[in-house]
Amino acid sequence: SKNLNTVTTTSDVLNRSGSDCFLKDGKPFQYISGSIHYSRVPRSYWKDRLTKMYMSGLNAIQVYIPWNFHESEQGVFEFEGEKDVEYFLNLANQTGLLVILRPGPYICAEWEMGGLPAWLLHNPNIILRSADSDYLQAVSDWMAVLLTKMRPWLYQNGGNIISVQVENEYGSYFACDYNYLRHLRTLFRFFLGEDVFLFTTDGNTDKELICGTLEGLYATIDFGTDTNITTAFKRQRRFEPKGPPGEIYMWVCVLQVNSEFYTGWLDHWGDKHASVETQKVSRMLEDMLSMGASVNMWVKVLTIVFSADLDSRFPGDPTDKLLAIRDVIKNVRRTSSPKFSYGFVTLKKVGNVSGLLDTLCPQGPVQSHHPLTFEEIKHYYGFMLYRTLLPRNIPDPTPLISPMNGIHDRAYVSVNGVYQGVLERDVTLVMNVTGRQGDQLDILVENMGRVNFGNKINDYKGLLGNLILGNDVLTDWLIFPLDLDAVISGGWPQAGGINVPPKPKTKEGRGPAVYSGILKTPGVAWEHLSQNSPGQVWINGVNLGRYWPKRGPQQTLYVPGTLLSPSLPNNITMLELESEPDHLRVLFMDRPQSKGNKGIEK
Ligand SMILES: *[C@@H]1O[C@H](CO)[C@@H](O)[C@H](O)[C@H]1NC(C)=O
Ligand SMILES: *[C@@H]1O[C@H](CO)[C@@H](O)[C@H](O)[C@H]1NC(C)=O
Ligand SMILES: *[C@@H]1O[C@H](CO)[C@@H](O)[C@H](O)[C@H]1NC(C)=O
Ligand SMILES: *[C@@H]1O[C@H](CO)[C@@H](O)[C@H](O)[C@H]1NC(C)=O
Ligand SMILES: *[C@@H]1O[C@H](CO)[C@@H](O)[C@H](O)[C@H]1NC(C)=O
Repeated sequence: SKNLNTVTTTSDVLNRSGSDCFLKDGKPFQYISGSIHYSRVPRSYWKDRLTKMYMSGLNAIQVYIPWNFHESEQGVFEFEGEKDVEYFLNLANQTGLLVILRPGPYICAEWEMGGLPAWLLHNPNIILRSADSDYLQAVSDWMAVLLTKMRPWLYQNGGNIISVQVENEYGSYFACDYNYLRHLRTLFRFFLGEDVFLFTTDGNTDKELICGTLEGLYATIDFGTDTNITTAFKRQRRFEPKGPPGEIYMWVCVLQVNSEFYTGWLDHWGDKHASVETQKVSRMLEDMLSMGASVNMWVKVLTIVFSADLDSRFPGDPTDKLLAIRDVIKNVRRTSSPKFSYGFVTLKKVGNVSGLLDTLCPQGPVQSHHPLTFEEIKHYYGFMLYRTLLPRNIPDPTPLISPMNGIHDRAYVSVNGVYQGVLERDVTLVMNVTGRQGDQLDILVENMGRVNFGNKINDYKGLLGNLILGNDVLTDWLIFPLDLDAVISGGWPQAGGINVPPKPKTKEGRGPAVYSGILKTPGVAWEHLSQNSPGQVWINGVNLGRYWPKRGPQQTLYVPGTLLSPSLPNNITMLELESEPDHLRVLFMDRPQSKGNKGIEK
């Protein structure tokens, strides 16, 4: 097997090379890596994307492993199909790409809860990312499974993994718990062997480097185009002190690693579309490479706003930025896949959510005196409908209040099927309702994804406390966990077979409802959603993501061509949350669109 000399501890690497270099197969080695998130790319595109990265001149990729993607239920490990990370590593190896593995347990990655599974929150006192015993136990159980699978893929064992990151930007987290880092170091060495090259990645400040680094884990930094490279690498030098600072200009190969060079950035709902100037990126990359630094470019992923991939127009296609980067790395041709405009498709109403509960929640509701969270019901994602009866007549508009900001994250409220409006975390915690004693109050609560960074990652979902109506605390709830993904991927609703009679346009004609329709022609496209209401869309049973054109910036969702069938009718299903027209129209177009970026991008 091959001999990777970048091993064991920092001092070993430096002693062996004697010249501040990564050595691979005995020779100085510099990696130029790009990030790719297999958990956000359909498996059918893995090979294509890896090939394009290789053709761009990269010799390595960074790969995050989201724990909650593989163990969404405690003790149930999933590594099949879209989750087959070993198959992904195999494709990368066949393509000729080395791998920098980032197995967490916390990965950030703009991913739900930074990759941590929501079931950790069953213990309300758990201190995540610390030496908390419940947390450590869960981490150890997961790593025993994951790292055992990874071991044969290490370079020294004949695979392509050249280095493994421990935790992620731990220095930015409040806990600063060295016992936790020590536990991880022990665990990683136990399962991966003593000769694995382990590293940490932190922001580029003293505080972050102090709390995020540990002896035996090589300290790397991350930054973007607004950073002075010289200053940043000088700081890294102080924590990995081998070699006087002046040398960085002289050595062709120095151990300077920027683990997340931000070539693009993410969008949040309501923000302007984020972009990073192409020229600046390529100039800085050139500077870093000429210093001999190894660099990973943090690019080509989908974002918190689904499918507006980080400042690249078509997921998987070379952008001008990638092409400029490629010029720097010196390389080849443009290779885009064709996009298609199919025009409008009309969707018919299947029914409102309250009226579809038998289908969407076949197991029936959970009864509880007080509201329960998603985590308490072990329904970690999506939607739950909370139902109770009004305790008295309320002829006049009366405030329905969520004290303590307890709506996580949005709640669509109706009384006897009459839509009343939305309550929203941090934004709207009071609304007026009217009704009669015994009327049915339905509150559909949407989980919009758990906080992924900072001190608030213990992010419970649902109604986190009692609701107050006037002077009454509302009690005696029926709670319906909705299994939309499972029901829709199981073939519901039978498209074309439904015809709900149109209703007169009244106030009642609003609120959460499901729609379906058919697209006959196949291929890659963008789906444009012109209505203002937020919602979600599925194609052939696969959840494409959330849309929210009114808040934006994203106005379109990417439709991967491999989802669409060339011969069968393609089934489109939509959950429309705030408006309830008799039918919806969607437009399939050949380019994405986002707000704040001068409409349609050229
Ligand atoms: C990785 O690719 C190399 C070169 O093609 C091959 O020799 C090696 O067996 C592959 N490793 C694994 C684990 O498949
Ligand atoms: C970065 O900082 C160094 C030293 O502080 C300074 O000499 C250099 O001009 C700066 N570079 C840029 C591009 O601002
Ligand atoms: C919701 O659907 C149910 C069942 O189809 C129907 O009885 C009810 O009137 C609908 N509610 C509204 C507000 O449209
Ligand atoms: C609720 O209704 C009262 C009485 O009509 C009104 O004063 C108040 O502004 C309303 N509150 C909201 C949040 O709409
Ligand atoms: C769409 O749904 C119909 C049944 O409603 C099914 O026969 C067909 O196979 C589905 N299309 C695809 C591409 O799965």
